[in-house]
Amino acid sequence: MLKEINEFTAKHHPEQHMLSGHLQGKVLEMVSCMIKPERILEIGTFTGYSALCLAKGLTEKGKLHTIELREADAGVARSYFDRSDYTAQIISHVGNALEIIPGLDENWDLVFIDADKPAYIDYFNLVFPRLRKNGFILADNILFHGQVLNQEIKGKSAKGIQAFNDFIRERTDIEKVVLTVRDGLYLLRKL
Ligand SMILES: C[S@@+](CC[C@H](N)C(=O)[O-])C[C@H]1O[C@@H](n2cnc3c(N)ncnc32)[C@H](O)[C@@H]1O
Repeated sequence: MLKEINEFTAKHHPEQHMLSGHLQGKVLEMVSCMIKPERILEIGTFTGYSALCLAKGLTEKGKLHTIELREADAGVARSYFDRSDYTAQIISHVGNALEIIPGLDENWDLVFIDADKPAYIDYFNLVFPRLRKNGFILADNILFHGQVLNQEIKGKSAKGIQAFNDFIRERTDIEKVVLTVRDGLYLLRKL
């Protein structure tokens, strides 16, 4: 099914580059299988690729909540979830994650932040109080195509990532490691 999502997205979506893809998908799957989470939150569903990778690690009673702003993308993702083994375990939300997260009465074992880059700090601040001790956050695109290394950073997304990276670096209540997979993944653990 992952291959099918990849091919469908490449053929029909103008922003197909946003999909996690095989390498990053495997990393997400591996991390999730190591943690065996009861509750996963994904911010930025797109066409559903990464949610299905993360869902592979869920416990039998586990649930994955995934949030997507755009109805059309959420619909495509849902059609794949419904054909997968995880249909009952994946809960799709359509709308702005900043508005939806505060209404989710869950404690997270694993959070994947992969939506609009200027809001990464806001997402972190919203989920952190509900992240269990020793829970993990993965944040995508933290290298932002290498632009974070430029002297002068242009564009609101690259600036958003730079601000997030600076914010994370200063925190003493998390452990952090940069995985140089694809566009860079931050792996964070709550102390
Ligand atoms: C990089 S894509 C996600 C890719 C997906 N996680 C994957 O790996 O296949 C980012 C997605 O976040 C969505 N998004 C952007 N801002 C959002 C917001 N405020 N709330 C929810 N979703 C948002 C976009 O519509 C887009 O589909």
